Amino acid sequence: MADGKVHIFDTTLRDGEQVPGCKLNTKEKVELALSLQELGVDIIEAGFPISSPGDFESVNEISKVIKNVSVCGLSRAVLKDIEVAAEALKYAQHPRIHTGIGTSDFHIKSKFNSTQDDILARAIQCVKWAKNLVADVEFYAEDAGRTDNEYLARVIEAVIKAGATVVNIPDTTGYCLPHQYGEKIAYLVNHVPNIDKAIISCHCHNDLGLATANSIAGVLNGARQIECTINGLGERAGNTALEEVVMIMKQHSALGYYTNIKTQQLNPISQLVSDTMRMPVQSNKAIVGANAFAHSSGIHQDGFLKDTQTYEIIAPEEVGAHGSRIVLTARSGRSALAYRFQKIGFEYHRNDIDILYDEFLKVADSKKEVEDIDLEKMAKQHKEVAA
Ligand code: KIV
Ligand code: ZN
Repeated sequence: MADGKVHIFDTTLRDGEQVPGCKLNTKEKVELALSLQELGVDIIEAGFPISSPGDFESVNEISKVIKNVSVCGLSRAVLKDIEVAAEALKYAQHPRIHTGIGTSDFHIKSKFNSTQDDILARAIQCVKWAKNLVADVEFYAEDAGRTDNEYLARVIEAVIKAGATVVNIPDTTGYCLPHQYGEKIAYLVNHVPNIDKAIISCHCHNDLGLATANSIAGVLNGARQIECTINGLGERAGNTALEEVVMIMKQHSALGYYTNIKTQQLNPISQLVSDTMRMPVQSNKAIVGANAFAHSSGIHQDGFLKDTQTYEIIAPEEVGAHGSRIVLTARSGRSALAYRFQKIGFEYHRNDIDILYDEFLKVADSKKEVEDIDLEKMAKQHKEVAA
């Protein structure tokens, strides 16, 4: 099996940009692409060139400025789409065409009113066509998550033979359970004779909240590329979140998987994408949410203040977050109160904290969060009473 390097294929500018309200103009896309390059992704899926003149222009402009990583354009299994994608990518140093077709019965029968054999022939034809235009061709078997494994293996073998360098196995509807998705990848590893000639890619959607788990299951079973987006943006419930899979592999480094991502840039780029796409990040989002390093209950705060690792498995600096926060609420305890007083310059003994704590609880019950200004008032009153 290939070594532990897992390629990060970022599709924030394509699948992520499909989110209603997240449409970007060319200038915004170019800026984000430069930041993604700086972050260390291996492939940037820059858009779907035939979909609109604006997207064509974006892929074209991104191709001109991105030097160190592959730039990818999406197409359907339609010859004209593929030609337009190649044209949009013509300035790219490392162009990749991402082409494919639906392989599940839902797609073959309902969407195309076709047959497995016809779809197989179209898959081969489109890969060959793309291969005439660029060396790096990725094939996607749309709805692979609900595709019969035996048929999927036939398609994958044929497209690799036709020249595909990467084979993408999308769980387009986010349907699979992690063990099912993992088994699907293992099935391909074990039943596609030429699988060693291509990289297997995971493209998992989050309809059941399983996108991250499924992508990792794919890697554990032999995939070496993950398609993901910053903040998990993407169609419907979104795609696999880049920051999550990257930090899982880093945290569990004993497994032997690694990426080129500079993790200190994860929070800054999350904020940049959120601002540019006008899409707030949920506060409890792993790695990049506002509360990802906030501790508010007394039990947690006490443990954290004794040893940060009691309640934090990642140091905030490692992912470019502003630092841990001890949030004062009615659930907070005395250690947290003493810590926050200390932070604003008041060193109290235990007896004083006991007295102040009763006052603190009254304030905390009347508002969601007790802030420095409230603590200063409490400290002032305490001094007056003591005088
Ligand atoms: O979800 C999906 O199947 C896709 C393909 C176009 C790769 O986005
Ligand atoms: Zn998708």
